Amino acid sequence: MQIKLGNITLKHGLMLAPMAGVTDKAFRKICRECGAEFTVSEMLSAKALCYEQVSKKAGFESKTAPLAALDCDEHPSAVQIFGSEPSFMAEAAAQLESLDYKGCTSQIRPAAIDINMGCPVHKIVSNGEGSALMKSPTLAADIVRAVKGALREIPVTVKIRAGFSNENKNAVEMAQAVAEAGASLICVHARTREQMYNPGIDLGIIASVKEAVNVPVVGNGDIYSAADALNMMKQTGCDGVMIARGARGNPWIFSEIAAALDGEEYIYPVFEDRMDTIIRQLHMMVDEKGERTAAAEAKKHVAWYIKGVRDAAGMRDRVMKSESTRELCDILLEIKSK
Ligand SMILES: Cc1cc2nc3c(=O)[nH]c(=O)nc-3n(C[C@H](O)[C@H](O)[C@H](O)COP(=O)(O)O)c2cc1C
Repeated sequence: MQIKLGNITLKHGLMLAPMAGVTDKAFRKICRECGAEFTVSEMLSAKALCYEQVSKKAGFESKTAPLAALDCDEHPSAVQIFGSEPSFMAEAAAQLESLDYKGCTSQIRPAAIDINMGCPVHKIVSNGEGSALMKSPTLAADIVRAVKGALREIPVTVKIRAGFSNENKNAVEMAQAVAEAGASLICVHARTREQMYNPGIDLGIIASVKEAVNVPVVGNGDIYSAADALNMMKQTGCDGVMIARGARGNPWIFSEIAAALDGEEYIYPVFEDRMDTIIRQLHMMVDEKGERTAAAEAKKHVAWYIKGVRDAAGMRDRVMKSESTRELCDILLEIKSK
């Protein structure tokens, strides 16, 4: 497996999927250390970014810009935008590429702009955004064309679903439309919007998209082990895989897959080292967002990491009731010393 995207080459095509509320800078960094070759930001609203530029509110603090912030060594990493209006999408993409927007703290330019055409959340879909675009390949293509036209150097990538409804799995038509419009890579989450996140991915649809377009195709859905990844690659011929929930609490999944692709055995870090990883992630979260936000957002990460430890339910309960990252670290150190 190898992916070429602009002047970037990904040896194994191993990507961390975007997850709003999860794939912040700290978690992306940990995943990169564990073998993710490409990461994507949490989604951000193109329209919100554009409106914020003209905000005249006193003491204005951007809520959108921090989502696009990349660390100085965070390359290659895409910033993902959502929206339904080509003009806003193009304007936001241009601002993100040139790092020219209010509240920008990004230290490097994104490697690509990714367009969200898969989000199933009602609030997004009812605005015609996210997976609602699956209902209109023509509009989807217009958006890609506008974004591509607005970008000077970096490529545009697209993340789609198998279809909107189970009756109309139109991923092939969508993929052809967006590739024709200029998308340089297409990720296919092999579920329909109707399925939301319910079990049952359709590997056949990834295989059909792969056959239908000439740009790299990345498969996504239900990868929780190297075996799952290799199976998807074998069954579909996809050029790479994108992992979302399977990386939560298990960023080492990327190393495990890379080793399997190289025909090597992967030995997971020992438990103590895994606990040290989450403690490091907590510190990075505090640096990034401040103690208050980090303490609230880190709980779920800790709960994912400690899944399967002795008395996990009791520990999880303590984690959820914790009030500071200091308390979370103490719980982790206690688990580690048992
Ligand atoms: C909590 C959560 C947040 C997500 N946020 C985004 C997002 O911001 N953008 C996006 O394209 N997909 C998002 N997704 C979808 C994932 O990127 C991925 O397509 C989906 O979870 C299927 O992959 P998986 O089976 O490996 O989890 C999100 C998924 C989850 C569970």
